[in-house]
Amino acid sequence: MAAGDFEARMTGYLNGAAACLALSIGRETGLLKVFTEPHEPMTIPQIASRTNLKERYIQELLGCLVTSNIIEVDETSVKYFVPDEIRSTLDSTLNSIELFDYGLARKEDLKSCLAIDGPNGFASQTKPGYGELLKKFRCMNIDNLIEEEFFKHTPDIKTKLETGIDFVEFGCGLGPVIIELASRYPNSRFIASDYSPEAIAYVTKAIEEKGLKNIKAQKSDLYQLPDEWVGKFDVVYIRDTLHDLGQPLKGATEMVKVLKEGGDMIIIEIVLKGDNHRENKEDISAPLLFILSASVCVPESLCQEGGIGLGCTSGLKSLKNIIYQSGIPAANIETHKLNEKKQNASLSCKFVCRK
Ligand SMILES: C[S@@+](CC[C@H](N)C(=O)[O-])C[C@H]1O[C@@H](n2cnc3c(N)ncnc32)[C@H](O)[C@@H]1O
Repeated sequence: MAAGDFEARMTGYLNGAAACLALSIGRETGLLKVFTEPHEPMTIPQIASRTNLKERYIQELLGCLVTSNIIEVDETSVKYFVPDEIRSTLDSTLNSIELFDYGLARKEDLKSCLAIDGPNGFASQTKPGYGELLKKFRCMNIDNLIEEEFFKHTPDIKTKLETGIDFVEFGCGLGPVIIELASRYPNSRFIASDYSPEAIAYVTKAIEEKGLKNIKAQKSDLYQLPDEWVGKFDVVYIRDTLHDLGQPLKGATEMVKVLKEGGDMIIIEIVLKGDNHRENKEDISAPLLFILSASVCVPESLCQEGGIGLGCTSGLKSLKNIIYQSGIPAANIETHKLNEKKQNASLSCKFVCRK
């Protein structure tokens, strides 16, 4: 590559980072809210009065966003707008900006873990805002999540939940999915499990506040599950957590132990397109996922005993390698892609493992 081309590319990245900063500030201050709602083109004084922000600063931030081709300005350079057809995409990008912000907030932690004499890692739920961020993403379209993750490929689970079964979620975090399931299926019994005391305290309070009697939060490390759970559960669910475990294979085999004969273990995992860095050059979401993996997933795994630091970027091959060794017969394991919308982008995979 010519040096001039490389310089242009690097300038593009710096400008992209500047645009992300402007988007982040615009999201947090409400400046961009006026552009995500239906609107006529607006002057800066009009935007200032609608947002209660200062005109001069709005002018510079819009300068960044217009020259980045995110916000449009009319031919006289006076009125600003976002065309109707891209408004919802701007809105969803502002959600992704929260992930960028979270990566930025972990900068010092990541620097200390990287240092040769620094800590191996840290438990993700001990960091402020992490559980809430995940909860927000899970709740955004919870109906679609429940349909895709439970009923789309295993419709019998819906009937079983209606009739009454034992269901456990491992690594439940703040529990948005399992709490929703418990309130929808009162005949079934749910256990929300996580090794983080912070997460379990939060879920316990949420269950009490909702007055739910069919769900219990229980702190448990996946490697030390209670003996009375062996063969107990009709459904074992684990979402975006297998890759966080220090010993994912041990975790997977423990989950199979607590699964009833004929029961389903449902594993949801982010999967990048490739199995190595070179292949992942084709994946348009790879850079952000590598930063999040370094800031959350790898530290979570490496701070656990025997931690291998799989990360959320490990790819389908290594995930399958673990799942196929977990004790479920290979013929009983199905892999499904979820919400496959964008070409050349990572996606979520669902592994359905019937014991
Ligand atoms: C990425 S979060 C996923 C939370 C939730 N499942 C979701 O999708 O929003 C991973 C969760 O796994 C938990 N976790 C990590 N290692 C664990 C272990 N060894 N045993 C039990 N829970 C663990 C963490 O505390 C964290 O809440």
